[in-house]
Amino acid sequence: MDYKIENLTKEEAIYIGKKINDIVPREVDADEEEFVLKVENENGEIIGGCVAEAYEYHWSRVLLEDLWVDERYRHQGIGSMIIREVERITRGKGCRVVTLGTASYMARPFYEKHGYQVFTSMKAANGYIDYSLVKYLDRDTPDYMPTDNSGAKYKVLPGNDDDADVILNGIRTYSEAYEEKCERDDFCKKLVNKDGKFAAGVIANVNKGYEGFVTALFVEEPLRHQGLGTYLLQEVEKLAKENNTFVVLTSAGDWNVDFFKKTAICSEVNSKMFPKDTTVTSSTRLSEAKQKKIIPDCRFIPQLTV
Ligand SMILES: CC(C)(COP(=O)(O)OP(=O)(O)OC[C@H]1O[C@@H](n2cnc3c(N)ncnc32)[C@H](O)[C@@H]1OP(=O)(O)O)[C@@H](O)C(=O)NCCC(=O)NCCS
Repeated sequence: MDYKIENLTKEEAIYIGKKINDIVPREVDADEEEFVLKVENENGEIIGGCVAEAYEYHWSRVLLEDLWVDERYRHQGIGSMIIREVERITRGKGCRVVTLGTASYMARPFYEKHGYQVFTSMKAANGYIDYSLVKYLDRDTPDYMPTDNSGAKYKVLPGNDDDADVILNGIRTYSEAYEEKCERDDFCKKLVNKDGKFAAGVIANVNKGYEGFVTALFVEEPLRHQGLGTYLLQEVEKLAKENNTFVVLTSAGDWNVDFFKKTAICSEVNSKMFPKDTTVTSSTRLSEAKQKKIIPDCRFIPQLTV
């Protein structure tokens, strides 16, 4: 191959991000809208809240990103009030799907009480299990009322960016106790031709012993279909295998998923989320030697139709 592999510069990483944004169909990233909800105590201090994102084409799906209740106020129904309000707002926008991620040390049973169902699970870098859950609001799920509902005396209010910082800080502090125990290697590389000109680049990371993730892979248009993308992907996999990492994930759309599927050994999670029948797919590539090990930790339901 007439190309050399070198480290990406920060400017080149930004360039790749921009090029990829140009490729993604417009409707996919249009109309992202974040909303923040908060609960305050008698002194006006924030004791709980959430940050949610209504995204991808006119509220086709709401992603509940962070939900947090101050430790002193937990198990009084406040988290439940917040989640009911998220669902009320979501319904009001004509949207019927809420998705979220949680981990085994967090709150899976709490969400299941509210009718959320796990659609993927995977052992995470810190040794816990990450779950993705979904709730279809137009399906018959009885409202869940917590045993202790004494927090109902507080109100769920709209919040702003400053409130979001308090909420995110609450979650961060909580999660610190479960910090990653693994080492992480970033893999940000480019291929340059013999004149040193940028030809292709990849932004990825490998959590040693757990999973790798390909954030971005880009080949300059005139140089496509010559194996440069495959070469970079294989370099990521090589690094992953050297580090005893059993799975490499990426996220792809209809417009590029076939490329990843060509060499994927294992499964994919299809989530039909957008209009025009676009399918979003996470391709999962496993090293064969580790396949047996991963299967018990990793559950895929092939089609999440939203
Ligand atoms: C998860 C959280 C938001 C729930 O808020 P909350 O106000 O304590 O929840 P509620 O009082 O409305 O609880 C409703 C029910 O879920 C249960 N529950 C709440 N949190 C739970 C948890 N982490 N694990 C298991 N069950 C939980 C409650 O015991 C209650 O059950 P019951 O009615 O059978 O007694 C809160 O515990 C929290 O902030 N945890 C730390 C951060 C976190 O994990 N956030 C979620 C990130 S994905």
